[in-house]
Amino acid sequence: MKRFTAFLLLVSLLVFSLAGCGEKKPSEAPTVTPSEEATPELTATPTPTPTEAPVVNPLDSMTLKDRYKDVFKVGVALPNSVISNASQMEVVKEQFNSMTFENEMKPEALLDREATQKGYPDTKTEPILKFGGIERGLRFAEENGLGVRGHTLCWYSQTPAWFFTVDYQPNSALCSKEVMIARLESYIKQVMTYCQTNHPGLIYAWDVVNEAVDPGTGDANGIRKGKNLWYETIGPEFIQYAFRFARKYSDGTADLYYNDYGCANKRTIIVKVLAPILAEGNIDGIGMQSHLSTGDNIQNTIYKTAKYFASEGYKVQITELDIGVKTLNEDTELIQAMKYKLLFQFMEQAKLNGEIDIDSVTVWGLYDTISWRSKEHPLMYQTFKLNRKMAWYGAMQDPEIKAFEW
Ligand code: G3I
Repeated sequence: MKRFTAFLLLVSLLVFSLAGCGEKKPSEAPTVTPSEEATPELTATPTPTPTEAPVVNPLDSMTLKDRYKDVFKVGVALPNSVISNASQMEVVKEQFNSMTFENEMKPEALLDREATQKGYPDTKTEPILKFGGIERGLRFAEENGLGVRGHTLCWYSQTPAWFFTVDYQPNSALCSKEVMIARLESYIKQVMTYCQTNHPGLIYAWDVVNEAVDPGTGDANGIRKGKNLWYETIGPEFIQYAFRFARKYSDGTADLYYNDYGCANKRTIIVKVLAPILAEGNIDGIGMQSHLSTGDNIQNTIYKTAKYFASEGYKVQITELDIGVKTLNEDTELIQAMKYKLLFQFMEQAKLNGEIDIDSVTVWGLYDTISWRSKEHPLMYQTFKLNRKMAWYGAMQDPEIKAFEW
């Protein structure tokens, strides 16, 4: 009966959503709706009439990081434009206890092209790096008690093509496998050593390899091949080398992760590709990016996949969560909030009952208008003013937001 009522509610919600005529609700406070999870007290509370003063939500005085302090870190991806905005960073340090650089720690940002080219041939296997772009963020994290996810050491994208050529000139021939392995080692060594020396213990997870599995266009084993200069120069073993070097230069304060999107559809391939690395003891976990949409079933795509990875011996992190909606209105925002709620709920329960060893959930951006998916409004805050969306209340598991899947 409850299920049926819930179904009816959903159908009406979707109908309203499609017709664009949903009842207007205050944007900051989620509407009280009878739900499967509502407490008897809440169900018994008379529905407020429009003339009544707005109900204060007790969650408003709480924060994400405190809500989950005994379960996992709650993180956010930040570009330097946010890191240098003092008032926005106040909200960051109030709500989050983990951060990831959105772009600034990627090879294209850390490689010093001019110095590396100028220094050739001395730089042949020792590229020159620059760390100025991450210092402010690292210091902020250190001073305010946030952990940092290191994203990312080895990725086919956002690693410049010139890094793979014999003399670091864009139009030269690709260098040999041996030289590229040496460059990979030098790069990983320099990045990890810099962070460990200057900010000991700050980085608690490294995305050692990012998005290396692509069953559609990959090789026979599903390893990404096209437009992947790591593959072209080193071959499929580039993954194994990267993890070997990361383990070699790690001081043991951070876990080593493989990070990917769309994990639900390629979970068995990922596990197969990572098997030799796990056997070597060079990997600790799998980062599930989780770029989702409101149509996604959280239980099937996220929870079951995370559980599968855990059963294969991996820790799991949710590393790049965002949940897009086609059009943002009061009703779709509520569905989005339900999805946020379900994700946090599944992960919290799985951690608490020992099913999944998960120590952080990170959202991929602070507010919608600067998201890489800005047209889909996928985050918990809307604009630079950092007005909370219902998604924030969903992530807080507001008991007044019903959450079920269809
Ligand atoms: O660096 C150039 C800069 O020189 C130029 O002035 C500017 C002008 O637009 O562009 C800058 O490059 C941008 C880059 O971010 C750095 O800011 C690119 O245009 C922009 O497309 C790029 O997008 C990033 C994207 O990765 C690139 O692949 C997004 O901000 C970032 O959110 C996104 O993050 C990735 C994760 O790392 C891995 N998983 C998927 C996720 C979403 O794509």
